[in-house]
Amino acid sequence: MKATPKRNVRRTTSPRSARPFVFVNMSMTADGKIASANRAVVGFGSARDLRHLYELRATADAVMSGARTIELSRATLGTGGARFRALRRRNGLAECSLRIVVSGSGSIDPRAPIFHKGSAPLIVLTTQRAGGARLARLRTLSDEVFIAGRKAIQWPKVLRWLSEKWKVRRLLCEGGGELNAALFRAGLVDELHLTVCPLILGGRGAPSIAEGEGAQQLRNASAWRVIRQRRHGGELFLVLRPTRDGGIA
Ligand SMILES: NC(=O)c1ccc[n+]([C@@H]2O[C@H](COP(=O)([O-])OP(=O)(O)OC[C@H]3O[C@@H](n4cnc5c(N)ncnc54)[C@H](OP(=O)(O)O)[C@@H]3O)[C@@H](O)[C@H]2O)c1
Repeated sequence: MKATPKRNVRRTTSPRSARPFVFVNMSMTADGKIASANRAVVGFGSARDLRHLYELRATADAVMSGARTIELSRATLGTGGARFRALRRRNGLAECSLRIVVSGSGSIDPRAPIFHKGSAPLIVLTTQRAGGARLARLRTLSDEVFIAGRKAIQWPKVLRWLSEKWKVRRLLCEGGGELNAALFRAGLVDELHLTVCPLILGGRGAPSIAEGEGAQQLRNASAWRVIRQRRHGGELFLVLRPTRDGGIA
Protein backbone atom coordinates (compact mmCIF):
# COMPACT_ATOMS: atom_id res chain seq x y z
CA MET A 1 0.00 0.00 0.00
CA LYS A 2 1.25 3.47 -0.85
CA ALA A 3 2.40 5.37 2.24
CA THR A 4 0.45 8.53 3.05
CA PRO A 5 2.78 11.53 2.61
CA LYS A 6 3.84 13.13 5.86
CA ARG A 7 2.28 16.57 6.22
CA ASN A 8 4.78 19.22 7.18
CA VAL A 9 2.32 22.10 7.30
CA ARG A 10 1.83 23.57 10.74
CA ARG A 11 -1.64 23.67 12.35
CA THR A 12 -3.35 21.66 9.63
CA THR A 13 -6.79 21.63 11.20
CA SER A 14 -8.99 24.10 12.98
CA PRO A 15 -8.31 24.42 16.70
CA ARG A 16 -12.03 24.16 17.40
CA SER A 17 -13.27 21.10 15.58
CA ALA A 18 -12.69 18.64 12.80
CA ARG A 19 -13.59 21.31 10.25
CA PRO A 20 -10.79 22.62 8.02
CA PHE A 21 -8.48 25.33 9.30
CA VAL A 22 -9.65 28.42 7.41
CA PHE A 23 -7.18 31.14 6.52
CA VAL A 24 -7.64 34.28 4.46
CA ASN A 25 -4.92 35.97 2.42
CA MET A 26 -5.38 39.54 1.16
CA SER A 27 -3.33 42.54 0.08
CA MET A 28 -4.58 45.99 0.95
CA THR A 29 -3.40 49.54 0.41
CA ALA A 30 -2.40 51.79 3.29
CA ASP A 31 -5.97 53.17 3.17
CA GLY A 32 -7.48 49.71 3.51
CA LYS A 33 -8.63 49.12 -0.08
CA ILE A 34 -8.34 45.81 -1.94
CA ALA A 35 -9.23 47.22 -5.39
CA SER A 36 -10.10 50.57 -6.95
CA ALA A 37 -13.67 51.87 -6.83
CA ASN A 38 -14.18 51.02 -10.52
CA ARG A 39 -12.56 47.57 -9.94
CA ALA A 40 -10.07 48.27 -12.77
CA VAL A 41 -7.13 47.86 -10.37
CA VAL A 42 -7.12 44.19 -9.45
CA GLY A 43 -3.56 43.83 -8.18
CA PHE A 44 -1.00 46.13 -6.61
CA GLY A 45 1.29 43.91 -4.51
CA SER A 46 4.96 43.34 -5.31
CA ALA A 47 6.54 40.22 -6.78
CA ARG A 48 7.35 39.28 -3.15
CA ASP A 49 3.64 39.49 -2.31
CA LEU A 50 2.78 37.25 -5.26
CA ARG A 51 5.36 34.71 -4.09
CA HIS A 52 3.78 34.87 -0.64
CA LEU A 53 0.39 34.05 -2.21
CA TYR A 54 1.81 30.98 -3.96
CA GLU A 55 3.66 29.90 -0.81
CA LEU A 56 0.41 30.05 1.14
CA ARG A 57 -1.42 28.13 -1.59
CA ALA A 58 1.30 25.49 -1.20
CA THR A 59 0.09 24.87 2.37
CA ALA A 60 -3.60 24.51 1.45
CA ASP A 61 -5.71 21.56 0.36
CA ALA A 62 -8.21 23.93 -1.24
CA VAL A 63 -8.20 27.54 -2.47
CA MET A 64 -11.46 29.50 -2.72
CA SER A 65 -12.58 32.84 -4.22
CA GLY A 66 -15.82 34.69 -4.85
CA ALA A 67 -17.39 35.04 -8.30
CA ARG A 68 -16.50 38.72 -8.84
CA THR A 69 -12.84 38.14 -7.96
CA ILE A 70 -12.66 35.19 -10.34
CA GLU A 71 -14.21 37.23 -13.16
CA LEU A 72 -12.33 40.50 -12.62
CA SER A 73 -8.86 39.14 -11.86
CA ARG A 74 -9.23 36.25 -14.32
CA ALA A 75 -7.77 34.04 -11.59
CA THR A 76 -7.47 30.29 -12.15
CA LEU A 77 -6.31 29.49 -8.58
CA GLY A 78 -3.34 27.44 -9.82
CA THR A 79 -0.23 26.43 -7.92
CA GLY A 80 2.12 29.00 -9.45
CA GLY A 81 4.30 26.48 -11.29
CA ALA A 82 6.77 23.64 -10.76
CA ARG A 83 8.62 25.31 -7.89
CA PHE A 84 5.44 25.60 -5.82
CA ARG A 85 4.25 22.13 -6.78
CA ALA A 86 7.57 20.84 -5.38
CA LEU A 87 6.90 22.86 -2.22
CA ARG A 88 3.47 21.25 -1.97
CA ARG A 89 5.07 17.81 -2.19
CA ARG A 90 7.55 18.75 0.56
CA ASN A 91 4.57 19.88 2.63
CA GLY A 92 3.02 16.44 2.15
CA LEU A 93 0.17 17.76 0.03
CA ALA A 94 -1.30 16.69 -3.29
CA GLU A 95 0.33 18.15 -6.43
CA CYS A 96 -2.47 20.72 -6.85
CA SER A 97 -5.08 22.11 -4.49
CA LEU A 98 -8.77 21.83 -5.02
CA ARG A 99 -10.18 25.03 -6.55
CA ILE A 100 -13.44 26.45 -5.25
CA VAL A 101 -15.57 29.23 -6.73
CA VAL A 102 -18.47 30.73 -4.77
CA SER A 103 -21.49 32.02 -6.68
CA GLY A 104 -24.70 31.93 -4.62
CA SER A 105 -26.90 32.94 -7.55
CA GLY A 106 -24.90 30.95 -10.10
CA SER A 107 -24.41 34.16 -12.08
CA ILE A 108 -20.66 33.69 -12.55
CA ASP A 109 -19.54 34.22 -16.13
CA PRO A 110 -19.08 30.81 -17.82
CA ARG A 111 -16.32 32.35 -19.95
CA ALA A 112 -14.16 33.01 -16.87
CA PRO A 113 -10.72 31.45 -17.47
CA ILE A 114 -10.98 29.25 -14.37
CA PHE A 115 -13.57 27.13 -16.21
CA HIS A 116 -11.26 26.60 -19.17
CA LYS A 117 -7.72 26.49 -17.75
CA GLY A 118 -6.05 24.33 -15.14
CA SER A 119 -6.43 20.66 -14.42
CA ALA A 120 -7.01 20.63 -10.65
CA PRO A 121 -10.54 19.69 -9.56
CA LEU A 122 -12.95 22.62 -9.60
CA ILE A 123 -15.96 22.97 -7.31
CA VAL A 124 -18.73 25.57 -7.51
CA LEU A 125 -20.47 26.43 -4.25
CA THR A 126 -23.95 27.78 -4.82
CA THR A 127 -27.52 27.87 -3.47
CA GLN A 128 -30.96 26.90 -4.72
CA ARG A 129 -31.29 30.51 -5.93
CA ALA A 130 -29.20 29.46 -8.93
CA GLY A 131 -32.10 27.57 -10.55
CA GLY A 132 -32.12 24.74 -13.07
CA ALA A 133 -30.52 26.29 -16.17
CA ARG A 134 -27.61 27.89 -14.33
CA LEU A 135 -26.99 24.75 -12.31
CA ALA A 136 -26.97 22.63 -15.45
CA ARG A 137 -24.49 24.98 -17.12
CA LEU A 138 -22.22 25.08 -14.06
CA ARG A 139 -22.23 21.29 -13.90
CA THR A 140 -20.81 21.12 -17.40
CA LEU A 141 -18.04 23.55 -16.41
CA SER A 142 -16.85 22.07 -13.12
CA ASP A 143 -16.15 18.78 -11.39
CA GLU A 144 -18.89 19.29 -8.83
CA VAL A 145 -21.58 21.82 -8.00
CA PHE A 146 -22.47 21.84 -4.33
CA ILE A 147 -25.81 23.40 -3.39
CA ALA A 148 -24.99 24.62 0.08
CA GLY A 149 -28.23 26.28 1.13
CA ARG A 150 -31.62 27.51 -0.02
CA LYS A 151 -30.99 31.26 -0.19
CA ALA A 152 -27.68 31.64 1.64
CA ILE A 153 -24.65 29.41 1.81
CA GLN A 154 -24.53 27.43 5.05
CA TRP A 155 -20.84 27.59 5.80
CA PRO A 156 -20.64 24.99 8.60
CA LYS A 157 -22.31 22.55 6.20
CA VAL A 158 -19.79 23.44 3.45
CA LEU A 159 -16.81 22.98 5.75
CA ARG A 160 -18.13 19.62 6.96
CA TRP A 161 -18.65 18.49 3.37
CA LEU A 162 -15.18 19.64 2.28
CA SER A 163 -13.62 17.83 5.19
CA GLU A 164 -15.56 14.59 4.73
CA LYS A 165 -15.80 14.30 0.96
CA TRP A 166 -12.64 16.07 -0.22
CA LYS A 167 -10.43 15.58 2.88
CA VAL A 168 -9.75 19.30 3.08
CA ARG A 169 -7.83 20.18 6.23
CA ARG A 170 -6.60 23.64 5.26
CA LEU A 171 -8.85 25.96 3.28
CA LEU A 172 -7.37 29.18 1.91
CA CYS A 173 -9.81 31.98 1.04
CA GLU A 174 -8.48 34.64 -1.32
CA GLY A 175 -11.40 37.08 -1.22
CA GLY A 176 -12.98 39.22 -2.33
CA GLY A 177 -14.47 41.32 0.39
CA GLU A 178 -17.97 39.88 0.16
CA LEU A 179 -16.84 36.29 0.50
CA ASN A 180 -14.44 37.14 3.33
CA ALA A 181 -17.22 39.01 5.15
CA ALA A 182 -19.45 35.92 5.15
CA LEU A 183 -16.68 33.85 6.72
CA PHE A 184 -15.76 36.55 9.26
CA ARG A 185 -19.45 36.96 10.16
CA ALA A 186 -19.78 33.25 10.77
CA GLY A 187 -16.68 33.30 13.00
CA LEU A 188 -15.00 30.74 10.78
CA VAL A 189 -11.69 32.46 9.99
CA ASP A 190 -8.81 31.04 12.01
CA GLU A 191 -6.03 33.16 10.57
CA LEU A 192 -5.68 36.29 8.44
CA HIS A 193 -2.63 36.98 6.28
CA LEU A 194 -2.56 40.62 5.36
CA THR A 195 -0.05 42.44 3.17
CA VAL A 196 -0.14 46.19 3.68
CA CYS A 197 1.12 47.90 0.52
CA PRO A 198 2.47 51.47 0.53
CA LEU A 199 -0.20 52.99 -1.72
CA ILE A 200 -3.31 55.10 -1.25
CA LEU A 201 -6.10 54.31 -3.69
CA GLY A 202 -8.94 56.24 -2.08
CA GLY A 203 -12.46 55.99 -3.42
CA ARG A 204 -15.66 55.73 -1.38
CA GLY A 205 -16.78 52.68 -3.34
CA ALA A 206 -13.45 50.87 -3.27
CA PRO A 207 -13.83 47.54 -1.44
CA SER A 208 -12.07 46.48 1.75
CA ILE A 209 -11.17 43.00 3.02
CA ALA A 210 -14.61 42.62 4.64
CA GLU A 211 -17.57 44.05 2.74
CA GLY A 212 -21.28 43.63 3.55
CA GLU A 213 -23.12 45.40 6.35
CA GLY A 214 -20.43 44.94 8.96
CA ALA A 215 -20.65 45.72 12.66
CA GLN A 216 -22.82 48.69 13.63
CA GLN A 217 -21.25 49.05 17.06
CA LEU A 218 -17.71 48.63 18.32
CA ARG A 219 -18.73 45.90 20.73
CA ASN A 220 -19.79 43.82 17.73
CA ALA A 221 -16.45 44.11 15.94
CA SER A 222 -14.35 40.99 16.03
CA ALA A 223 -11.04 41.32 17.83
CA TRP A 224 -7.73 40.10 16.40
CA ARG A 225 -4.12 40.08 17.49
CA VAL A 226 -1.01 40.22 15.36
CA ILE A 227 0.99 37.04 15.85
CA ARG A 228 3.67 37.74 13.21
CA GLN A 229 4.95 40.76 11.33
CA ARG A 230 7.69 41.13 8.75
CA ARG A 231 8.72 43.95 6.45
CA HIS A 232 9.98 43.31 2.93
CA GLY A 233 10.79 46.41 0.94
CA GLY A 234 7.90 48.80 1.45
CA GLU A 235 5.37 46.10 2.31
CA LEU A 236 4.30 44.84 5.71
CA PHE A 237 3.34 41.16 5.98
CA LEU A 238 1.06 40.51 8.94
CA VAL A 239 -0.48 37.36 10.35
CA LEU A 240 -3.43 37.80 12.71
CA ARG A 241 -5.55 35.41 14.74
CA PRO A 242 -8.91 36.07 16.39
CA THR A 243 -8.72 36.74 20.11
CA ARG A 244 -12.26 35.49 20.71
CA ASP A 245 -14.53 33.78 18.19
CA GLY A 246 -13.52 35.96 15.23
CA GLY A 247 -17.12 36.65 14.21
CA ILE A 248 -18.92 39.94 13.61
CA ALA A 249 -22.25 39.82 15.50
N1 LIG B 1 -6.25 42.85 -2.94
C1 LIG B 1 -6.58 41.60 -2.81
O1 LIG B 1 -5.89 40.82 -2.14
C2 LIG B 1 -7.82 41.08 -3.48
C3 LIG B 1 -8.14 39.72 -3.36
C4 LIG B 1 -9.33 39.28 -3.94
C5 LIG B 1 -10.14 40.15 -4.62
N2 LIG B 1 -9.80 41.45 -4.73
C6 LIG B 1 -10.69 42.39 -5.43
O2 LIG B 1 -11.94 42.39 -4.77
C7 LIG B 1 -12.96 42.70 -5.73
C8 LIG B 1 -14.08 41.67 -5.64
O3 LIG B 1 -14.57 41.63 -4.31
P1 LIG B 1 -16.14 41.62 -4.06
O4 LIG B 1 -16.34 41.73 -2.59
O5 LIG B 1 -16.75 42.63 -4.94
O6 LIG B 1 -16.59 40.21 -4.61
P2 LIG B 1 -16.29 38.64 -4.30
O7 LIG B 1 -16.39 38.36 -2.84
O8 LIG B 1 -15.07 38.22 -5.02
O9 LIG B 1 -17.50 38.01 -5.09
C9 LIG B 1 -18.80 38.34 -4.75
C10 LIG B 1 -19.71 37.34 -5.39
O10 LIG B 1 -19.31 36.02 -5.00
C11 LIG B 1 -20.45 35.29 -4.60
N3 LIG B 1 -20.42 35.19 -3.13
C12 LIG B 1 -19.50 35.69 -2.29
N4 LIG B 1 -19.80 35.36 -1.01
C13 LIG B 1 -20.93 34.65 -1.07
C14 LIG B 1 -21.74 34.02 -0.09
N5 LIG B 1 -21.44 34.05 1.21
N6 LIG B 1 -22.84 33.36 -0.50
C15 LIG B 1 -23.16 33.29 -1.80
N7 LIG B 1 -22.44 33.86 -2.79
C16 LIG B 1 -21.33 34.53 -2.42
C17 LIG B 1 -21.64 36.07 -5.11
O11 LIG B 1 -21.74 35.68 -6.48
P3 LIG B 1 -23.11 35.71 -7.32
O12 LIG B 1 -23.42 37.18 -7.52
O13 LIG B 1 -22.74 35.02 -8.59
O14 LIG B 1 -24.14 35.05 -6.50
C18 LIG B 1 -21.16 37.49 -4.97
O15 LIG B 1 -21.84 38.42 -5.78
C19 LIG B 1 -12.32 42.67 -7.08
O16 LIG B 1 -12.11 44.00 -7.50
C20 LIG B 1 -11.00 41.96 -6.84
O17 LIG B 1 -10.00 42.39 -7.73
C21 LIG B 1 -8.65 41.94 -4.17
